Amino acid sequence: MQVVETIPACRQALAKLRQFGGNVGFVPTMGALHRGHVSLMEACRSAADLSVASIFVNPTQFAPTEDLSRYPRPREHDLALCEAAGVDLVFYPQVDEMYPPGGETTVVVSGLSTRWEGSIRTTHFQGVTTVVTKLFNIVCPEIAFFGQKDFQQQAILRRMVRDLDQPVEIRTCATIREPDGLAMSSRNVYLTSEQREIAAQIYQGLSAAEKLWLQGERSPGTLQREIESRVSLRPELSIDYVAIVDPGTLLPLEAPHPGAVALVACKLGSTRLIDNLLLGTAAELLALPTTAR
Ligand code: PAF
Repeated sequence: MQVVETIPACRQALAKLRQFGGNVGFVPTMGALHRGHVSLMEACRSAADLSVASIFVNPTQFAPTEDLSRYPRPREHDLALCEAAGVDLVFYPQVDEMYPPGGETTVVVSGLSTRWEGSIRTTHFQGVTTVVTKLFNIVCPEIAFFGQKDFQQQAILRRMVRDLDQPVEIRTCATIREPDGLAMSSRNVYLTSEQREIAAQIYQGLSAAEKLWLQGERSPGTLQREIESRVSLRPELSIDYVAIVDPGTLLPLEAPHPGAVALVACKLGSTRLIDNLLLGTAAELLALPTTAR
């Protein structure tokens, strides 16, 4: 596995790897890798001839009040996980490499970026779409892999590549969960052991709504209230939003259909936790086009 830190070195390494043909799969990350990231790298490896990952804690997607300075950066651990997952090339730039002084251009997906997470973290998605566009321009992948855990992020990135004709296919991979259902996230390390146990209640809420859905419940209000009441069993979890939305537009649905998404965001102490679940039977979800799964 090669590790490169500059844009020219990344382009040069890719040109060499590509000379024998084959497609490039790409897993952009901010490091602090866990089994969720590994599952993306494994999906990448089985779908593409060459696997590229990036590790870059992107400052532009953090608000000044957020955790940029304390975001974990375990370089050796991360590189070992990439190597074990069969990554061929890791792009590991420093901030100056990605954002030299004088930059004036950003990429904004205007509507989708203002909803849900975007209404609370108002500059977050602009940072994500800008850095992902830059990374796509550097790596030029045919396929890029993102986790369903960040549902809004992958919806925004799908819209971005469509609107800007970026020649890359976005693949969304299932959320990887701890045995008690907590969605894996690099930020879970911030939770104390007591909070870690409380956090699992979010998935209990989503699972309860899924159960109602499978019993035939289709009222978004009822599904939403089921999630809220289950999550509220742990008063330490302060709910930011619960919504049943369309997977493409992220707008609330009055008559949810299979493939609708239940979104949840909570605060637990100073840590924000987000999660989601697609509603539908396994057969209904499998029958959906991959863009809606
Ligand atoms: O999901 C993440 O880890 C980040 O938002 C991403 C896509 C790597 C952009 O910095």
